[in-house]
Amino acid sequence: MKIGAGRAVPSFRVMDVITEANAREQRRQPGDARVLRMEVGQPGTGLPDGARQAVEAALRSGDTLGYTEALGRLPLRAAIAAHIHDWYGVSVPVSRIAVTFGASGAFPLAFLAAFDTGDTIALAAPYYPPYVNIATALGLKPLILPCGIETGFQPTVAMLEALERKPDGLIIASPANPTGSMLAPEDLAALARYCHTNGIRLISDEIYHGLTYGKPIASASEFSESAIVINSFSKYFSMTGWRVGWMVCPEDLVRTVERLAANFFVSPSYISQIAAQAALGCHAELQANRTRYAAARQIMLTGLESAGFTKISPPDGAFYLYADCTSFAADSAAFCARLLDEANIAATPGYDFDATRGKNFFRMSYCAALPDIEEAIFRLCRLNS
Ligand SMILES: Cc1ncc(COP(=O)(O)O)c(C=O)c1O
Repeated sequence: MKIGAGRAVPSFRVMDVITEANAREQRRQPGDARVLRMEVGQPGTGLPDGARQAVEAALRSGDTLGYTEALGRLPLRAAIAAHIHDWYGVSVPVSRIAVTFGASGAFPLAFLAAFDTGDTIALAAPYYPPYVNIATALGLKPLILPCGIETGFQPTVAMLEALERKPDGLIIASPANPTGSMLAPEDLAALARYCHTNGIRLISDEIYHGLTYGKPIASASEFSESAIVINSFSKYFSMTGWRVGWMVCPEDLVRTVERLAANFFVSPSYISQIAAQAALGCHAELQANRTRYAAARQIMLTGLESAGFTKISPPDGAFYLYADCTSFAADSAAFCARLLDEANIAATPGYDFDATRGKNFFRMSYCAALPDIEEAIFRLCRLNS
């Protein structure tokens, strides 16, 4: 029987690490060390309290909680527009906000709305793997721009200018996964303006906004009306499993996104939208989470250095560290297998994020509880002593 083009999609390797770590946990005998889960960006904090209360009230209300509009409930879309105004001072009409199944659900909508089969989308490596994998599955051509510490692992206008042929799109993420690096507002503005002027559709993944550690941050919405901005309730809002995100659609894509969303998904989950709307008012609790991540970041940076990992670029945001492991192993996959085997630490090999240079790097997330972070550092130091 024929198998479709989807077969070409590479696996999201971190999922294999998760499977192996889960299997290990299931085999664990009393007295064995627990596997420390540092392979995924799964906040250890859970649903904010105000969101929990709103969900409980909605369940008690007897409301059917059925389908909603394809682009989401109007009160949530209005609350997102108000949030964008509060954080960036930009007024985006509610009509341009689409509620999605996490940021993940926004990518296929954005790609299909903005591009045709065979179109080229540029992006920096290292990158969040689904950008490339979803684009490939949809018949688009990722154009990888290898980026290093000199440009903070971010693309630049000069890199785009140097290309022989202009790409049809550019994906950026600031703060980025896996490096946590950020674009300075003026660099983001320059990229947004260059893309707008040159007919390149900018897609800005802003999922880690709110989780930054001192540097100023800006949204692509501030600089471009043609940019697609993607965000989510998964990270800062600590709601991974509720699967809610949003997209700021440019005016010319709104109807297309709406038709795609209606046909693909009918509507986002009603109860998750209730939770998300309430979470937008839970900043005190969410800021406390951020303070905890800031402490975890510091423990990780100091601890990894004492464990011998000296080539790390300190992350500006998100909750990941992307560290060079060449002093410990010739290959990051072998190194992560050893970490799991000998130290019971689940981490992700760099191959997921950079097919060529990823063999030299591994990623650890630091959104777990602080005692787990301290224990991980202790085990890493012991492994390398
Ligand atoms: C950069 C980036 N974008 C998007 C996502 C997907 O997030 P969501 O849970 O909103 O689908 C992730 C998840 O880790 C991510 O790191």
